Amino acid sequence: MNSLFFRMTDICKSYWMGDEWSPVLKNIDLTIQEGEFLSVLGPSGSGKSTLMNIIGCLDTPTSGEYILHGRRVDDLDADELSQIRNKEIGFIFQSFQLLPRQDALSNVELPLIYAGMPQHKRRERAAEMLERVGLADKMYHRPNQLSGGQQQRVAIARALATNPTILLADEPTGALDQKTGRQVMELFHELHDEGRTIIMITHDRAIAQNASRMVRILDGEISEGVADDA
Ligand SMILES: Nc1ncnc2c1ncn2[C@@H]1O[C@H](COP(=O)(O)OP(=O)(O)OP(=O)(O)O)[C@@H](O)[C@H]1O
Ligand SMILES: [Mg+2]
Repeated sequence: MNSLFFRMTDICKSYWMGDEWSPVLKNIDLTIQEGEFLSVLGPSGSGKSTLMNIIGCLDTPTSGEYILHGRRVDDLDADELSQIRNKEIGFIFQSFQLLPRQDALSNVELPLIYAGMPQHKRRERAAEMLERVGLADKMYHRPNQLSGGQQQRVAIARALATNPTILLADEPTGALDQKTGRQVMELFHELHDEGRTIIMITHDRAIAQNASRMVRILDGEISEGVADDA
């Protein structure tokens, strides 16, 4: 696909701190091709989650242009934005954000409810996704009956449920031990091989090196990096 798949130009995000603007993202230029596996590497407080929220249309920049799938995000109305969040982008959050009282199956079904899929179909699809991440035998477990790595896999299954073109992951291995983190990365490689676009945000260089391209973010500024100069 063309370079207009995803392009940020001069994106800034500032917060008004009572008496002055505090810049968090500074003139971000970033182009991502369809099917790329990109990591954004940066230390705590550098602006990673702020950037992720803008990429995922959960937040809006203070200024700059953001084009997603060839359309200016600025021009989209609330319905179109929620459509994009629900169908185009699969979110994986560091803290999983699973519903504690619902079992794994119901958690994965949730985005399918928003997408308007009928019940029998969405149960089937959710079960398929849980099998995909190796949790066929844990469908009726609630989050507190699952390990951290298993909860993260439920979160990944949920992100995949609507078959999004973009997977957006904020510290997907942040709460996992090394071995479980590696398993999650293997799954990301498989998803990338299937043609999905993956944007992975992390402070962990070893994890970032799983991606085929890496950019670094430092104090709200982006720079291109090569995998081994981090
Ligand atoms: N709503 C807000 N109002 C004011 N400042 C904010 C707000 N949200 C984030 N910030 C500031 O923006 C900066 C970047 O925050 P962000 O959460 O994007 O960092 P991060 O790179 O994700 O860090 P971490 O690795 O710790 O998750 C921080 O200095 C933070 O204090
Ligand atoms: Mg963060």
